[in-house]
Amino acid sequence: MTQTHRAPTVSFVGAGKVATTLAVLLARRGYTIASIVSRSGSSARSLARRVRCPRYSASVADLPPESQFVLVAVPDDALRAVGAAIARLPDLPFSRLTIAHTSGVATSDVFRPLKDKGSAVFSLHPIQLFSPAVSLDRQMRIMDGITYGYEGPARTRRFARRIVRDLHGRFLEIPKQEKILYHVACVLASNYVVGLLGASEQLMRSVNAEGMRALKPLVEASVQNAFDGGAARALTGPIARGDVRTIDLHLGELKRRKKDVAALYRSVGQYALLMLRRHGRASGMRFDRLRRKLK
Ligand SMILES: NC(=O)c1ccc[n+]([C@@H]2O[C@H](COP(=O)([O-])OP(=O)(O)OC[C@H]3O[C@@H](n4cnc5c(N)ncnc54)[C@H](OP(=O)(O)O)[C@@H]3O)[C@@H](O)[C@H]2O)c1
Repeated sequence: MTQTHRAPTVSFVGAGKVATTLAVLLARRGYTIASIVSRSGSSARSLARRVRCPRYSASVADLPPESQFVLVAVPDDALRAVGAAIARLPDLPFSRLTIAHTSGVATSDVFRPLKDKGSAVFSLHPIQLFSPAVSLDRQMRIMDGITYGYEGPARTRRFARRIVRDLHGRFLEIPKQEKILYHVACVLASNYVVGLLGASEQLMRSVNAEGMRALKPLVEASVQNAFDGGAARALTGPIARGDVRTIDLHLGELKRRKKDVAALYRSVGQYALLMLRRHGRASGMRFDRLRRKLK
């Protein structure tokens, strides 16, 4: 691990959405990208060109021995094998090597063979979505000020903080034993919100093809209120008001016309109700009545 003020030289394993974004950002912030490795090599070549990196390859055996920091951004299922393959390389100075991955769910333990060889290992997860549907320009804009979830030992904290600062991000330490729940939180906040919007979109399509746009201010205000005062305080609507008749009408129509959405309505509604009760907003009889309806 480098302790100097000069930016460390970085090699990437993976040249997909996350690696491309981080490599471009780090290159813009003055980091030298020493090499890019990907499974096929062709994505490594195109990323290498983009960040003016002299080396690219389809094999981790080509990681240069002068590597100081290796950032691995490959699918979660490939992490263990990639770590083990790097640990088998004969010429890397393992005790001077820092290696991290970007998975939201895996911990640094996935790189145990590298740790056993004396390398410093951690995970650094950018809390943002990386979609092929988003252009690199737009991706760069949505990276500014995001949070990076760090999980790892005290010895790499300072180094990781520096990387995060240079990425113009915020640093959030995640205890190892909380990593999976942390990732569930991220997935709910992102993918599940989109899932709910998908259901809303489906219903709106039966009303008017343009209908979804009408919901944008509602979605934005709900999200803003949840961030301002917490989700339990932000909840409005029939569950918060205890409007059993409205919930009956909703469920009756959904059962008749949109069975798949009925299950979703019930299950998210049940959670919203529990949330209200925990915050003292749904007492005794009202809670029981609503719970029976949403079962
Ligand atoms: N996507 C997101 O929204 C997001 C957000 C935060 C964190 N992450 C995490 O970031 C990591 C990378 O995700 P991503 O979305 O960037 O994935 P991706 O776009 O699918 O890219 C994966 C890259 O890994 C390479 N690769 C696959 N197996 C490999 C192997 N055995 N050896 C070397 N390279 C290999 C692929 O090579 P080829 O190009 O040759 O196929 C590709 O370049 C994952 O751990 C993911 O959980 C993702």
